Amino acid sequence: MGEELTDSTSSETYDSIDGHLIHDVSFVEVERPISNDTNDTGAKPRKSLEIPHSLPTEDGLARIVTITNQKGGVGKTTSVINIATHLAIRGARVLVVDCDAQGNCASGLGIDKSKTNITTKDVILTPSISIQARHATAVEGLHLIVGDHNLVGVEESLAAQLGRERRLVEALAPLRPHYDLILIDTAPSMSIVSINALTASDGILIPVQTEYLALEGVALLMGTIQEVRRLLNHSLGVDAVIMTMHAPTLLNTQVAGHLREIFGDLVLEPPIRRNIRLAESPSQGVPIQFHAPQSHGGEDYSRLSSELEALWFPGGIRNE
Ligand SMILES: Nc1ncnc2c1ncn2[C@@H]1O[C@H](COP(=O)(O)OP(=O)(O)OP(=O)(O)O)[C@@H](O)[C@H]1O
Ligand SMILES: [Mg+2]
Repeated sequence: MGEELTDSTSSETYDSIDGHLIHDVSFVEVERPISNDTNDTGAKPRKSLEIPHSLPTEDGLARIVTITNQKGGVGKTTSVINIATHLAIRGARVLVVDCDAQGNCASGLGIDKSKTNITTKDVILTPSISIQARHATAVEGLHLIVGDHNLVGVEESLAAQLGRERRLVEALAPLRPHYDLILIDTAPSMSIVSINALTASDGILIPVQTEYLALEGVALLMGTIQEVRRLLNHSLGVDAVIMTMHAPTLLNTQVAGHLREIFGDLVLEPPIRRNIRLAESPSQGVPIQFHAPQSHGGEDYSRLSSELEALWFPGGIRNE
């Protein structure tokens, strides 16, 4: 892994749509020493709320999953980059769509977004160009549609448009048969772009930091999900809750226990520990699997992604 991606068009797993793929930079794998901290799990679930569960993926189409939490800095982008990388390494064909104007998925995957021409904003305004908007990354089988600051103006541009919540549905339709998983990163706000992401999705991943006030906003998010289900996407449901930035303190352990009580089986194990390697890997332009695979962050994302693999691909990844 970590080899330079020179010609993904030669891959037999893709067909003609990859003639449109834009190729980007590669990165170098860096090994780090093994760490030995223990994992902290904590309380067992006692009760759960009425939370819509998601349905299985339709045969032959990518599962579309949005990662969302209106709270900022809870590990949405970090989770997207590392889960997508893990599953691509496992053999899944993965497309990341960055729906955040901060555009951090590009830097995290080693792509210079200032050099990209077609971004998520263009795809939302002109869904028919989605095939040409994809960039190859240095991880084989992992592609990206880059988000950038232009997404800020989309709300205004779509204001008078009919069907403005369904632009991403339209854009992803021709791509779905060519991927196993489409993972959408969102901004910490419920804009029309985030609503597009939820409308296009089968499932939702909710990262929650195991800190004081972590649950603030989650009730609001549940309300938004119910509204999207009622008006735009009846089959939308929660795939899983991810506990992020976890530390073995009493407070973190109590919050983790509380999350398990509220969300029950939807809470994925293990919690992702707070780990400096995760914080530094975007500055290297590489996912944790290449920067420090045996760090706590690397180990936790690897175990968590394996749980997601079992959830999303119960019969195995199709081209494994
Ligand atoms: N487990 C972790 N341990 C330490 N640092 C982390 C961890 N997860 C993420 N970070 C760092 O915390 C910051 C916020 O993470 P990230 O960008 O993934 O959050 P986000 O929810 O996408 O934020 P935003 O809402 O602004 O989009 C980043 O600097 C990231 O590198
Ligand atoms: Mg983010």
